[in-house]
Amino acid sequence: MRKQIAAANWKMNLTIQEAVSLTEELISKPRKLSVRQEVVLGVPFPYLTTIKNMLSGTEGIFISAQNCSDRKNGAYTGEVSTEMLQSIGVTHVIIGHSERREYFQENNALLSEKVNRCLQTGLKPIFCCGEPLAVRDSGTEYKYVETQLEEGLFHLDAIQLTGFIIAYEPIWAIGTGKTATSDQAQQMHAFIRKVMSTKYGSIVAESISVLYGGSVKASNAAELFSQLDVDGGLVGGASLVASEFSAIIDNLKK
Ligand code: 13P
Repeated sequence: MRKQIAAANWKMNLTIQEAVSLTEELISKPRKLSVRQEVVLGVPFPYLTTIKNMLSGTEGIFISAQNCSDRKNGAYTGEVSTEMLQSIGVTHVIIGHSERREYFQENNALLSEKVNRCLQTGLKPIFCCGEPLAVRDSGTEYKYVETQLEEGLFHLDAIQLTGFIIAYEPIWAIGTGKTATSDQAQQMHAFIRKVMSTKYGSIVAESISVLYGGSVKASNAAELFSQLDVDGGLVGGASLVASEFSAIIDNLKK
């Protein structure tokens, strides 16, 4: 049974003191996650070790970077390699967030290399896809997302994609307070699973966790997560408030 995942993306927010208090508050609440539930914290690079150490002894909570280099190692000033991340206990990496695609010109070719680097190092990519508003308005959002999946992931084999994590984040719903309706989310998630199934077969497609991202809050998580093909969320703003993110975790399918 595929994992149901509540993933936080703190983005470029919080001081270390704030990050520590947020984590303390989050883990202070006793919580029994089921075997199919996972929590992932997408933490800024400088705080990864501190937050990782705070999580020791808590089950089912993993630590993620928000980006990584597409290069293995060497003279690439300012870059962070997957080997570095793996060596400090990071388990996941958010790849291809729309903010990286838009502000840092990351394209599918580069992202497919980043995915490769993660897999070669034993890290789990959280591969993001999703269309801008103009694309949805023109009615071509399914084709757009399909191309992102084809160019970003279709070089992988079925084993590499078994248990994989994809996050669908419609750009028009990110940080705007404008959530996709649960119907819109379900339809796109079902489409993503169909695309993966056509290429890799239904067993692989059914094993992939497809998370929804874009203004997920405590108040809409239950409705979104109840959809058949929505396997949790990738949460920005609401993940910066412990009570909100806790409530979001509580709404994962059991
Ligand atoms: P918001 O939850 O703030 O809309 O951000 C979504 C997101 O980009 C998560 O990666």
